Parts: sequence; C-alpha cells; structure tokens
Amino acid sequence: MIKREHWGSRLGFILAAAGSAVGLGNIWKFPYMAGANGGGAFLVIYLGLVFTIGLSVMLAEFVIGRMSEKNAIGAFAKLKGGLWPIIGVFGVAAAFIILSFYSVVAGWTISYMIKSVTGALAVEDPAALGDIFGTFIADTTSPLIFHAVFMALTVFVVLAGVGGGIERASKILMPALFALLIVLIVRSVTLPGGMEGVAFLLSPDFSKVTWSTVSDALSQAFFSLSLGMGAMITYGSYLSKKENLPGSAGWVTLLDSAVAVMAGLLILPAVFAFGFDPSAGPGLTFITLPAVFAQMPFGAFFAFLFFLLLAIAALTSAVSILEVVVAYFVDDRGVSRKSAAVIIGFVIFLLGIPSSLSMGVMGDVKIIAGKNFFDLMDFISSSLLLPIGGLFISLFVGWVVWGKAQEEIAAHNGVIPIWVGAWGVIVKFIAPIAIAFILLKGLGVF
Ligand code: PHE
Repeated sequence: MIKREHWGSRLGFILAAAGSAVGLGNIWKFPYMAGANGGGAFLVIYLGLVFTIGLSVMLAEFVIGRMSEKNAIGAFAKLKGGLWPIIGVFGVAAAFIILSFYSVVAGWTISYMIKSVTGALAVEDPAALGDIFGTFIADTTSPLIFHAVFMALTVFVVLAGVGGGIERASKILMPALFALLIVLIVRSVTLPGGMEGVAFLLSPDFSKVTWSTVSDALSQAFFSLSLGMGAMITYGSYLSKKENLPGSAGWVTLLDSAVAVMAGLLILPAVFAFGFDPSAGPGLTFITLPAVFAQMPFGAFFAFLFFLLLAIAALTSAVSILEVVVAYFVDDRGVSRKSAAVIIGFVIFLLGIPSSLSMGVMGDVKIIAGKNFFDLMDFISSSLLLPIGGLFISLFVGWVVWGKAQEEIAAHNGVIPIWVGAWGVIVKFIAPIAIAFILLKGLGVF
C-alpha cells in the first residue's frame, strides 16, 4: 500500500483548510446574503451559528478524517460501515453539484480580471456597470469559456497532489488575500456615505428576522465553512497525529468568519455610497466594486488585483471540493490521481453548463418552485445536502464513535480537555436538533 500523503506543516494545513473555507462564499455570497436579509441581524445569527454548530461540526469532520485516514465515503465505511457511508455518498454528490455552479461564478472573476486590464470596467456609472455585468453573464459562450478555464486550473492544482499542489498554492495565496482585503476595506469605508453601509452591517434590526433569515444563515454557515460534505474530513485525513485538532478548527473558523465580515465591510459601504440596493443579489460584488475602483487613482490596477484575489480564493476552495471526489476514487476505486482529477473535472464542467446558461438563454426555464437551474443547484446543495450532512456527521461523532473521538482529540498530548464535554452536548443533541428544526422551519414544514 502507498503511504498516505501528509501536509508538510501545521501552518500549511491551516492555510489549506482556511483556503477551502474562504472563497466565493465569503466575498461574493456573504455580502449579498447579508444585504438581502437586513444586514446586522443576519450577521449576528450567522456568527452565532458559526461558533456553535459550525465550529463543532468542523472539529467532528477533522476527527473523522484523521481517525480513519480516508476519504469522505471510505471514512464512514472504515469506522462503522452499515448505512453510514451514505453520508459520504451525499457529500460526494454535493461536491459535484457545488463545484459545477461555483466554477461558473469563479469564471466570471477571471473574465473580470481581464476586463479590468483592458479598461472595459473603467466606467464610473454604476448603472452602466450593471449592464456590462448583465450582458456578460447572459451571453452563451464566453462565460462557458471562463468556466472551462477555471475548471482546468482546479484540476491542475489537484493533479499536483496534497503537499505539492494544494498546500503550496494556499501558502502563497492566502496571505496575499488578507493583505489586499485590508487595503480595499480602507478605501471602501472612507467613501462619502460609506459609513451607512458599516452601520447597516453592524447594527442589527431584529424586527426583520424571520425563519428564512435563520435558515439562510445556517446554509451560509455550512457553505462558507466548507462543512457537511466531507471536505474537512478529506483534509483532516492528511493530518498527522501530532496535530492539535481543536486549535486548528478554531483557527479555520476564525479566519473564515473574519474574511466574511471583512468582505461585508468592503462591499456594503460601497453599495451605500453609490446608492445601490443592498438586496440586489449575486451581481452586487461585480457591479459595485468596479464602480469604486473606477473612481480611484490606479483603479484598474486595484480592480485587477481584487478580481485576481477573488479568483484565487475561489481556486483554493474549488480545489478542496474536487479533492473530495478525487480522494474517493483514488482511495477506494484504485483510480490514479491524474485520471480521477481530469475525468471528474470534465464531468463537473458539463454539469456547470446549464447553470451558466441560467443567466441567459435558460433564465426563464424554471425547474422547480420558480427556481432556475443555477438557483436550484445552489438550493439543493447549500440548503439541503450540507446541513443534512452536518446533522449526520454530528450524530456519528456524538453517538457512534464518541469514545474514540475523544481519544483522537487527545492524540497529540494525551490529555482530554474539559470542554470536550460541552462539545459532546453540541454534537449529540444541540447541533442535530437545531439543524433539523431550522431546516424544517425554513422549508415551511411547520
Ligand atoms: N467554503 C467555500 C466558500 O466559501 C465553498 C465550499 C463549500 C468549499 C463546500 C468546500 C465545500 O467559497
């Protein structure tokens, strides 16, 4: 048997896991979800869920991964068998679905990188920028070309393996992302009128909260932390026994939520400064930020950097999604890493085509409940598969392997910390009940 690959260092692992978590979910999705859900109240509920259920499920995934040293399906088969591997099967299905539409949006960011250099975005009028965006995503071929380019890049990193590809890329890209975010936030909050956006994000108005706000916050927490589909199980499976799992889970959760808040502070002030509607939806990032850049000295340069970093954040996340599927085929189906990455990457590209076309020619094709293909893929994965995955992952750790899970936490120094009891209460009871309740409420079941 070939020895399992391992991360080169603790920092490398944390950056790779943070690279998975920090992505379009934080920079593109979070600000428009917060915008559509009343701002501050959404933020409070979101952070509340992240640091209770999110952090606990992340630790559970790391534990399952390192304990089994297996992919998302194989881990459950090895630790218990029976019907449990179905959790991993759902996870692999979620990986196909998420990456298919994720790559479409990531493709937009690559195109916007090019547009910033060619001057196509040097337009100060936000309405005109709205038209540019709308026309671009509604086009049939060019978004597909960028979707293909992005999938090719993702395949390329995964091909290069865990240490040489995923870890190496994350160590360069994540620090760059942080630095640029800070520069851009300073610019955005100092725009005339920008403070209104800060107030919108930081002063919660709970009168706007409904169950759908809470269920949106839950979906967003799972999506943003890369939980519920085995990405963190897979990354955890490449960890050595000397690593401190709770510390790592804490760091990744903290970095991820920090970037979400920072992205909110970057986008929402600009939205208010330019008089946009914060609930404008998925176009928010692609329309308001270019308007900000167009008014700055060296704006084209900053715009290029911003979209480059958005593409990078997307890439380190996409890599982790593809790795979930690749690890399964490599571990359990005897496929080589190369063939697995290329073939699966291609299938995911095909699945993304209808999502891309949903922005144009297929825009009026409503598949179910008034949702077009893109929205449906997003809904099935983020609102159903991930939370359901998280529910069963919690139950698995809390009830099926609880004894071994505690030992796994203590593996690096032999001490079971006292807070483990609290974690046990969360994974055994609170997380499963809360997730089930929020899901059913959000779906309007009762
Ligand atoms: N967390 C990533 C983001 O925020 C997306 C992702 C979801 C990655 C699920 C892996 C698993 O963009």
